[in-house]
Amino acid sequence: MTKTGLGILLALPMLATSAYAYRTASPNGAVVASFNLENGVPTYSVDYKGSKVILPSRMGFQLAATDDLTDGFSVIGVDSCSFSETWHPVWGENSDICNNYNEFVAKLRQDKTGRRMDVRFRVYDDGVGFRYEFPQEEPFNFFILKDERTEFAMPGDLTAWWIPGDYDTQEYEYNESRLSQIREIYPKAVAVNLNQKHPFSPTGVQTSLQMKTDDGIYINLHEAALVNYSCMHLNLDDNNFVFTSWLTPDADGNKGYLQTPCKSPWRTVMVSDDARDMLASNLILNLNEPCKYADTSWIQPVKYVGVWWEMIGHGKPWAYTFDVPSVDLDRTDYTKVKPNGLHPANNANVMRYIDFAAEHGFDQVLVEGWNIGWEDCTGVKKDYMFDFVTPYPDFDIAMLSDYARSKGVRLMMHHETSSSVRNYERHMQAAYDLMDKYGYNAVKSGYVANIIPAGEHHFGQWMNNHYLYAVTEAAKHKIMVNAHEAVRPTGLCRTYPNMIGNESARGTEFEAFGGNTPTHTCVLPFTRLQGGPMDYTPGIFENDLSKNNPNNHSHVNTTICRQLALYVTMYSPLQMAADVPEVYDRYMDAFQFIKDVAVDWDKSIYLEAEPARYITAARKAKGKDEWYVGGITGYEGRKTDVKLDFLDPGRTYEATIYADAPDAHYLTNPQAYRITRRKVNSKTSLKMSIAPGGGFAISIKPVK
Ligand code: NOJ
Ligand code: CA
Repeated sequence: MTKTGLGILLALPMLATSAYAYRTASPNGAVVASFNLENGVPTYSVDYKGSKVILPSRMGFQLAATDDLTDGFSVIGVDSCSFSETWHPVWGENSDICNNYNEFVAKLRQDKTGRRMDVRFRVYDDGVGFRYEFPQEEPFNFFILKDERTEFAMPGDLTAWWIPGDYDTQEYEYNESRLSQIREIYPKAVAVNLNQKHPFSPTGVQTSLQMKTDDGIYINLHEAALVNYSCMHLNLDDNNFVFTSWLTPDADGNKGYLQTPCKSPWRTVMVSDDARDMLASNLILNLNEPCKYADTSWIQPVKYVGVWWEMIGHGKPWAYTFDVPSVDLDRTDYTKVKPNGLHPANNANVMRYIDFAAEHGFDQVLVEGWNIGWEDCTGVKKDYMFDFVTPYPDFDIAMLSDYARSKGVRLMMHHETSSSVRNYERHMQAAYDLMDKYGYNAVKSGYVANIIPAGEHHFGQWMNNHYLYAVTEAAKHKIMVNAHEAVRPTGLCRTYPNMIGNESARGTEFEAFGGNTPTHTCVLPFTRLQGGPMDYTPGIFENDLSKNNPNNHSHVNTTICRQLALYVTMYSPLQMAADVPEVYDRYMDAFQFIKDVAVDWDKSIYLEAEPARYITAARKAKGKDEWYVGGITGYEGRKTDVKLDFLDPGRTYEATIYADAPDAHYLTNPQAYRITRRKVNSKTSLKMSIAPGGGFAISIKPVK
């Protein structure tokens, strides 16, 4: 590790208090960040290999009831350094991550008010992160943000893969359009999501936002280390292609309450002329703090099955009875109510999943609908229905956890909070204690419906503090957390690696709610996955939902091989095999790939990538000589050669190739596949043919 106080390349000190310019290049010189102060107004810009990526863009804040922090500044000092280290994540795509940047800090003071605001830039070979820092110095102690005014002035009418702005959900399909077309597409884009409640602007989008210039430069805007701050959206001025940050408000319309010393999250600009670099980038993880836990031995990647698709896909109820809302019972004695007879979280069925998990080598069994409260979980009683500790009468938690243990698997806890957040916090310790008692070490939590207290939003500062509180409290119990509907990840899993997953995007559940497009998972790695892994819950082999639920006419818009490929292309240390055991029983040969595929990796290589078109990734299993390759395409079928030059030279391996059949098609023939085996080595190139909406998966093991 080196950390030096050396000034960096290209410093242009034009020292004058209210006019100043400073440039810093990345270690290999490809990326240059510039900071300027002109007439007291701070701006920054970013260049990549001589091309403009971010044109001069303003920085600062509007404050409530006091002068804004946007102008009237002087530079009172500059610090710079270089930094290089290799660190090792607890789990990840690679066991070694290189964190190498040049940094400078412009220390600013606002002349009129005497308030301090520093701007810190870290310049990497694959992009730039910058953040605001507020030292604790009189007269600046506590302040309220009306909004952040960071601009991102784009170098033209770029192509973007975007979802509309929303304070409460990211569960959207991505749109592909020019920036100038966002306004026109926006009404359709928001209409597809019934949860959309807060269209703050007809050109507002969420991050991570992936863009591409006509010259083939890929630019991604996001944030890193979102802590004690509200989540950033980007509001586009579509005449000039300038985005301005737009934070999520609280119930009073304020956007943040800050007390010095404090700092904003990093604002990130990733850039490359090769789309694969967007996927391989560690910029967001690198901008986060190192792991805060001394002992991480209890944090382990998890492959799981669950009592889940029966409800989501087959329409069965989470609730034990249909009666409770009609009787006025608090913490109802459920032994007196009439069971609906459809509830899948019952002893016999859970034992069936435990048996299946044990037989096929899965670590855990998620059980949703195990606890009382589902009958009115989004209705009038939602603020107190769940206590997270009382099982339904047909879920014998002691017996089932013993049974699971005897079979070498664990149950996975489920806490649907219904976004009644105070209620969850009131019960959290008891809920985690219950998990300790019965040997659970992972919880899937959820934040469906509007937040209570009313007026707060899923992505506001108050909720962001809650999500992290749930994670850090869980760590005290050695519990891993996978929160659904929570704020989009920003790399915090580096600091808190028990944050083992998140949903925070449109997941596989939407295959049962009308379907996802075949392009969706070709975009997610460029966008949602930049901040951390997603619990996408792949593995649905039965495409026709009406087979189990005649009222559901959704169709899973992928081939079976595409479902397999997702275990490689959608990196996550938490992977579910989401379909029901009886479907896997019909396709045991294809299911073998899900059984084999690793969930933790020494090395990951993106072989091919283009947003919304295709991704091919190869990963080496942690501590093993096995490789897994996954390739996916969008609506168009494609042919590709997969060169296995990442294998050890001179060694022979056996590849098992799971490929779409020649006549496979995500709509008309999704379950058609061919499995072949052959010897391969580092000189082999495999010719793969991918069906529309299809994919391929390859496992490669050394020949003994
Ligand atoms: C939405 C989650 O995304 C889904 O996985 C879960 O089953 C339901 N909420 C119920 O908690
Ligand atoms: Ca969800």
